[in-house]
Amino acid sequence: MTNLSETDVSSLIAAARKARLNAHAPYSRFKVGAAVLDERGVVSVGCNMENAAYPLGTCAEAVALGTMVASGGKTCRAIVIVAGGDRLITPCGGCRQRIAELAVAGTRVCCVAEEGDAIEMTTPEALLPNGFAF
Ligand code: THU
Repeated sequence: MTNLSETDVSSLIAAARKARLNAHAPYSRFKVGAAVLDERGVVSVGCNMENAAYPLGTCAEAVALGTMVASGGKTCRAIVIVAGGDRLITPCGGCRQRIAELAVAGTRVCCVAEEGDAIEMTTPEALLPNGFAF
């Protein structure tokens, strides 16, 4: 099980909140931020990035995980996702597959609302049971 302290979770939430402010979401106006902690202890962040050609839009989780991989991270120990308002969101289907690909036993997925103190801790396995793997 990943040894994730409360400090780790708090700093990941702060990083995801900060990244969310940079979201490029002129079409949905729904800003999302994400922060990933990898096996090196490095935190990578992402925000959603929409495009006028709608299907090209990218989720915050995909950006954060891609940044982790580009900087040399191999596995994701924890990922925090922050959406706006007082509502929690959980990762979309595609991002569940992305998270599963880079997760290890004990990886935590933490969904947080921008306002209020709603927080949900879950796992890649719970989000994507019996997912595709080569
Ligand atoms: N979005 C994310 O960034 N992550 C999710 O898990 C769900 C949805 C983004 C995609 C799009 O820019 C906006 O939220 C509305 O769907």
